[in-house]
Amino acid sequence: MVAIQPLFGGALHQLPCEHPFGNAVQTTAYLAIRPEGGNVLFYGSGHMADCLDGLEALGGVWRQLVNHRDEATPGADLVKERFGAPLWCHSLEREACAQVCHVGDTFEQGPLTDDIEAIHTPGHCPGSTCLLWQTPNGQRILFTGDTFYPSKGRWTVAIAEEHRDQMRASLQKLTREHIDALVPSLFIGEVMWLEGADAVQDALKQCIERLKAPKGR
Ligand SMILES: [Fe+2]
Repeated sequence: MVAIQPLFGGALHQLPCEHPFGNAVQTTAYLAIRPEGGNVLFYGSGHMADCLDGLEALGGVWRQLVNHRDEATPGADLVKERFGAPLWCHSLEREACAQVCHVGDTFEQGPLTDDIEAIHTPGHCPGSTCLLWQTPNGQRILFTGDTFYPSKGRWTVAIAEEHRDQMRASLQKLTREHIDALVPSLFIGEVMWLEGADAVQDALKQCIERLKAPKGR
């Protein structure tokens, strides 16, 4: 069993980081602690086999949610076998995710539960979806996957040039939400989250401005 770290006052627990493409790139997953055993695992992890006991000690997993295809891992099937927790993804990511693991159900845009909302934010992938969770203490945490993530301290996006306008519209959509914190799956350089509604708005608007320029994000 490996250590799973509490964050945000224990509302979230972070699985160990992995380095899929070298030391500068880190990815991770999180367990959201929800009442009555409805814990949700966001993203995927290559460390999942070593985390199952730790997840069980935290109350297990009810559902697995991914932002897009790159977070689908074989470990998702281990979680499904252990806890009976199906993986959900956007319908446009289903085919790609299903090449890696079993997909239980799909979503589009809108509420998934009383406290989790899917916000379709295409650009990185056609079905990339940010997931907004209102914690039991009222904090609104946005799981951005690698739609919006920190690279060497600056919050940015990873897109093909032809998807620049689409991504800009997706970030604009996020500025219309009240978001207290950003929790990505991907980090280039230091692992960091962004807390504070004003800081989140500033980071989104700065990236939107950069996306209006012909090059450079
Ligand atoms: Fe990705």
